[in-house]
Amino acid sequence: DLKIAVIGGGSSYTPELIEGFIKRYEELPVRDIYLMDIEEGKEKLEIVGGLAKRMVEKAGVGINIHLTLDRREAIKDADFVVTQFRVGGIDARIRDEKIPLKYDVIGQETTGPGGFAKAQRTIPVILDVCKDIEELAPNAWLINFTNPAGVITETILKHTNVKAIGLCNVPIGMVHGVAKMLEVDSKRVYIDFAGLNHLVWGTHIYLDGEDITEKLIDSFAGGKSLSMKNIPELPWDPEFIKSLGMYPCPYHRYYYLTDQMLKEQKKEAATVGTRGEVVKKLEKELFELYKDPNLNVKPPQLEKRGGAHYSDAACSLISSIYNDKKDIHVVNVRNNGTIADLPDDVVIETNAVVDKNGAHPITIGHVSPKIRGLMQVVKAYEELTIEAGVRGDYYAALQALTIHPLVPSATIAKKILDDIIEQNKEYLPQY
Ligand code: NAD
Ligand code: G6P
Ligand code: MN
Ligand code: MN
Repeated sequence: DLKIAVIGGGSSYTPELIEGFIKRYEELPVRDIYLMDIEEGKEKLEIVGGLAKRMVEKAGVGINIHLTLDRREAIKDADFVVTQFRVGGIDARIRDEKIPLKYDVIGQETTGPGGFAKAQRTIPVILDVCKDIEELAPNAWLINFTNPAGVITETILKHTNVKAIGLCNVPIGMVHGVAKMLEVDSKRVYIDFAGLNHLVWGTHIYLDGEDITEKLIDSFAGGKSLSMKNIPELPWDPEFIKSLGMYPCPYHRYYYLTDQMLKEQKKEAATVGTRGEVVKKLEKELFELYKDPNLNVKPPQLEKRGGAHYSDAACSLISSIYNDKKDIHVVNVRNNGTIADLPDDVVIETNAVVDKNGAHPITIGHVSPKIRGLMQVVKAYEELTIEAGVRGDYYAALQALTIHPLVPSATIAKKILDDIIEQNKEYLPQY
């Protein structure tokens, strides 16, 4: 029988996770799910926990939902720990989005200085969570969603003894995007992915095993249905896509279309608000729905969130580990030579065979210079971000932001960094 601990259990995505375990009840004997949150998240935890309880009752499965503010109780003897927390809450996210915009730099929760700030707040907490796991559940697998997911997973693998796999819904979204374009079932589509979290390229695309990359390239040009709910759907230029010869992820728009995306972000900030401000409202609506005592399934409105379908990926991954399936998932794992152009000890996002011993990435070798440089510089930014986050190292932080491709100079990097530290004081014990 399995015990699952969910750190950040009050998340509005939790009903999807519960649905995923209900659906897999026959193959995955989950008996106890501990939804853990902090005092500030207590009300959300109670609302979403109430819905979770109604969901398992309606489904008639023998899963017990426990709500707790005690992280150690949640983690003790857990088989899987799922991390989906947001340090500082949505208000901190909104600040992350607004600070860079002041300096004409992309303001995004995971990409650029916003992601850097989120990492600095999250690293001390994830290291604490991992200490609890090392002590109370040393054999547990940690499935990490907490963003920036690649950076946080790399922090865990470099600085703790916890077995961890990072997960994101972007690759799944890209598979679904292609399936929709071809009007086929997504099970017939397979994509080779190479890169980093939120910086992943589809290098080859297959339909029923046949390589259709070249045939498909033109279709990515418009790219309408190929974005995510949280990213403006600016179209790709056909010539650009042809010259790239690959399938960029939605987050690549911030790098390849920086000027247009910045304009778009400023327009949004001045009208509907930043994405964080939009999400804050969406979340209020969702929690109103969750309160309804007659609601006992995951409401479709959850799909307005950018992370839709991500918890289902978690349940599927957990089942592959537990059942030793040896099937393929796209995950965040230690490179170990998979991409020859990156160090061994960094985390990459790629296809991996998953069995009871974990995720084994499939060899890639060297990547094309079209993507190599961007991937390497963003990885260097990530490595420095981790150094800064673990040690509170101002110099590493300044270098991280300066080399980031979205930050134009050391001068702007310093201004942004000082703003970030100033506005996040209470969440940065390491500085
Ligand atoms: P949210 O604001 O609802 O946060 C979830 C919960 O975390 C909240 O209830 C909050 O109280 C709690 N929390 C805050 N600090 C905590 C701490 N120290 N310990 C335990 N719980 C704590 O956020 P959300 O929109 O549900 O997203 C949660 C996380 O998952 C974020 O980091 C987000 O970026 C990430 N996410 C990742 C993916 C992905 O593709 N990997 C997809 C969606 C969301
Ligand atoms: C995508 C990303 C997630 C991110 C989410 C944001 O799905 O993969 O990592 O957290 O979007 O969505 P939101 O609705 O919070 O803007
Ligand atoms: Mn993601
Ligand atoms: Mn730069």
